[in-house]
Amino acid sequence: MKMDIKTAQALTEDEARETLMMFRNFGDDPLSVQESFRGLFPKKLAEAMGEVRALRRRALVKFSRGLDMYFTKPLLEQASSEQVAQYRAERFVRVGVKKVFEPCCGIGSDSIAMALQGIEVHASDKDEIALHFAAVNAKVYETHIDFTLADCSEVLPEDGVIFIDPARRRGSRRIMDPQDWSPTPDQVSALLHQRPGAGIKLSPATPLDILLELFPTPDEIEVISLKGEAKETIFWYGCLADGSDRRATVLPEGSTFAAPEQAAADVGELGEFIYDPDPALIRAGLLGAFAKEHGLHVLDPEIGYLTGPEVHSPFLSGFRVLAEETLDPRKMKAKMREFEVGKLVIKKRGIAERPSTLESRFLPKAFGKRSIVLLATRVGDRHIGILTEPLE
Ligand SMILES: C[S@@+](CC[C@H](N)C(=O)[O-])C[C@H]1O[C@@H](n2cnc3c(N)ncnc32)[C@H](O)[C@@H]1O
Repeated sequence: MKMDIKTAQALTEDEARETLMMFRNFGDDPLSVQESFRGLFPKKLAEAMGEVRALRRRALVKFSRGLDMYFTKPLLEQASSEQVAQYRAERFVRVGVKKVFEPCCGIGSDSIAMALQGIEVHASDKDEIALHFAAVNAKVYETHIDFTLADCSEVLPEDGVIFIDPARRRGSRRIMDPQDWSPTPDQVSALLHQRPGAGIKLSPATPLDILLELFPTPDEIEVISLKGEAKETIFWYGCLADGSDRRATVLPEGSTFAAPEQAAADVGELGEFIYDPDPALIRAGLLGAFAKEHGLHVLDPEIGYLTGPEVHSPFLSGFRVLAEETLDPRKMKAKMREFEVGKLVIKKRGIAERPSTLESRFLPKAFGKRSIVLLATRVGDRHIGILTEPLE
C-alpha cells in the first residue's frame, strides 16, 4: 500500500503504537490481526498497521530493535543492516570524525548507528514519511539526531563530512540505470566537493568499473559482506579513507583484508584443498592479492574457486578434496558408488545446470551414508565435479 504522511503520523501516535505493541506476540495469522485492527481503527490506518506489523517481523533480520521500529516496505529493503551500519560507523570514530551529514537518511539506520557512536549527526531526506519514521526510530534507539526535510539536489548540506546512500530502487524494484538513482551520480558528486571526508554507499551488484566512471575516484574502495552475501560497496574519500587502495570486509566476524587491487589470481592444478571465497573479495578486486598472500591459486582464470594448501580464514569456505571427475552422469554415478554417498550438496561456479538437476542425475539413489559436497565447475571447456568434505 502507498502510505501518506497523515497515516504515517497516526501510526506513531500513542493509540496505534500501543496497539501494535499489544499485538506484537499475537500469533502469526496476519489476516486475523488485520481484522482486529479494522475493528479498532479507520480502514486506512488499520491496513498500515497490518503492514508495519508484518514489516517489523521481517526487519528483525536487519535490526535488533526491529519490532519497535517503523518502516515502509521499500524503505526497509533499502535500509542498511544494523551490523553493517555499526561497523561503518566505527570507522568515523576511528578517524576522529565528530560531526556527519547524512542527506538521504531513509528510516535512519546509518544515522542511528553513527549517533550511537557519539557522533553529532545531521540527517535529512526529501521524503517526509522516511524522515518521520527515522525520527521515531532514533528515539527507539535513544539517540539524538538533528532531522531536516530537504532535497539535497537543491539544498546542499553544510560543509563537513558526509555519508550518502542514494536511492537505487523505485518502490521494491532495483533501478538498473544509475542515471535514474536519486540523487543522480552527478548530484552526489557535487555534494562531495571540498569536503574533508565522504562515504558513498553503493550496490555491490554494479561492477566497480561502472561505479568508477560515475563518481570521483575514491581514496579507498571497501566491499562489505554479511553472512556470506555482498551487501555494499563503499567509496571512501579524504579523512575517511585509511590509506589502503581496496578493502574487503566480512561481517559479522569483522575480518578485513586490504591490498592494492589485484583481481586475477595465478592459475594452477587442483590442490589438496579447495575454497569458495567470500564475494567481498571478488567484488573488491582482491581475489588475486588474497590468493597470493595465502599461497593459493585458481583452476581457471574465469572461475573464482581457490585451491592449494590448508588455509583457515573467515574469507574462505574450505573443502578437503577427495576426488575429481568429469561431470558425466555415468562417471559421476560410479564415483558416488565408490564413495558410498548418501547425501550430496552441490555448489557450482561457471556452469549453467541447476544443482537439483545435477543431483538427480548423479545420485538417483543413496549408495551409502556419506555426505559429500560436490563442487561443479569448469576448467576451460571441461566441466568437472570435485568431490569434497567441508573443513571444520
Ligand atoms: C537508500 S535510502 C537510504 C537508506 C538509509 N541509509 C538507511 O540505511 O536507512 C535512500 C533515501 O534517499 C532519499 N532521497 C532520494 N533522493 C533524495 C534527494 N534528492 N534528497 C534527499 N533525499 C533523497 C530517499 O527518499 C530514500 O529515503
